[in-house]
Amino acid sequence: MPRPTLSVIGLGYLGATHAICMADLGYDVIGLDVDAGKVEALANGTVPFFEPGLDELLAKVLPTGRLTFTTSYDDIAEAADVHFLCVGTPQRKGENAADISYVDAAVESLATRLRRPCTVVGKSTVPVGTAERVAEQFAHNEVELVWNPEFLREGWAIEDTLHPDRLVFGVTSERGEQTMRAVFAPIIDTGVPVVVTDLATAQLVKVAANAFLATKISFINAMAEVCEVVHADVKKLSEALSYDERIGGRFLHAGLGFGGGCLPKDIRAFMARAGELGVDQALTFLTEVDAINQRRRARMVDLTRELLDDSLSGRRIGVLGAAFKPHSDDIRDSPALDVASRLHRAGAHVTVYDPAALANARRDYPALAYAESAVDAAAGADAVLHLTEWPEFVQMDPEVLGAVVNRRNVVDGRNALDATRWRAAGWHYRALGRP
Ligand code: UGA
Repeated sequence: MPRPTLSVIGLGYLGATHAICMADLGYDVIGLDVDAGKVEALANGTVPFFEPGLDELLAKVLPTGRLTFTTSYDDIAEAADVHFLCVGTPQRKGENAADISYVDAAVESLATRLRRPCTVVGKSTVPVGTAERVAEQFAHNEVELVWNPEFLREGWAIEDTLHPDRLVFGVTSERGEQTMRAVFAPIIDTGVPVVVTDLATAQLVKVAANAFLATKISFINAMAEVCEVVHADVKKLSEALSYDERIGGRFLHAGLGFGGGCLPKDIRAFMARAGELGVDQALTFLTEVDAINQRRRARMVDLTRELLDDSLSGRRIGVLGAAFKPHSDDIRDSPALDVASRLHRAGAHVTVYDPAALANARRDYPALAYAESAVDAAAGADAVLHLTEWPEFVQMDPEVLGAVVNRRNVVDGRNALDATRWRAAGWHYRALGRP
């Protein structure tokens, strides 16, 4: 089979990474987005978001001519053999369900233009049943539909794309499977396991994975709540659990909990879909997973208040971290900014610093104050809050920060600072789930 030409529809964290990586593997790739600014930036060699290594990889593949960008569906319909659907499926405003209007719009734009046989590969995270509906849209074309969920993590997007834990191909025919095996051959040949399923299972694998990860995080955060009452140490508890291989230590870090554009909205959309399907009871535990996660944010605010003699009004608070996790500039449902906003609403003067997410935070949270460094954010502070565990915060010298604050109070929302070192430097160190 000659090498297929690929298109990638939707150039966000997922699509842009996929397009750049597939071009790096040697494919001709056309990236499409309806946002002309994004297309222009990428064509000029700028990744419109922060993802370690992606700028360099784009700079490497652009000169080969294999990677081009467009806003025109006519271009991709004519040129590509395999179309990857990578548009976002955010949470609907005021509801738990996912908004799949971007999927619907992309499918319609493509379906009305296809004049040649091709394969459409869904990568977007969708409510189960969407793929079957999409397949109907293409029924009149010679189109093979495949569902291929994506498991990449922001911050490790390139690594996860080129060396995934597994590939899942939801197919309806032998031909669909063969096309996927051919397209992903460079990755499969490195020994990556392939699981071939039907369409429904492939869609479910994705939301089940995110539901499991969210549950694991909320489990350890529930243990943190108990630890707080009996003065136990959740970090030690987690470490002790992690040596049991059946449990494992990954995603067992207690702290401020999960945020981002995926885990929170995916568990809610999964519950909403289960309700539509009449199996809501199967997923009611996810309501509790969500509630535990939200309670951590409230607890962080309470802990800060306790530390500041039961009053937040007029207190100066330096916040380290705005991104929902380190190595990302993504602030969607960021626990750090949620806590910062709650403190601000309670009357505190909050100054935020983040190594990558400042521009996004300034745009979406204009009421907060911002600083260009950790030291500047902490200047004059009555308390410093560590809310996103960037390496530069974890490695920070507590003496340097101690020299600029008003009071040496620190709350470690990510259980990542060296408590002994901070205490030795005269700080009153508090953390979630630890004495
Ligand atoms: C998540 C999944 O991990 C990916 O596999 C999936 O592809 C992606 O969603 C998606 O659906 O697109 P991501 O949102 O990039 O990836 O972030 P994670 O690394 O999963 O972290 C999520 C949140 O959990 C962060 O706020 C992080 O700080 C928090 N977390 C993570 C904890 O609080 N404790 C942990 O032990 C681990």
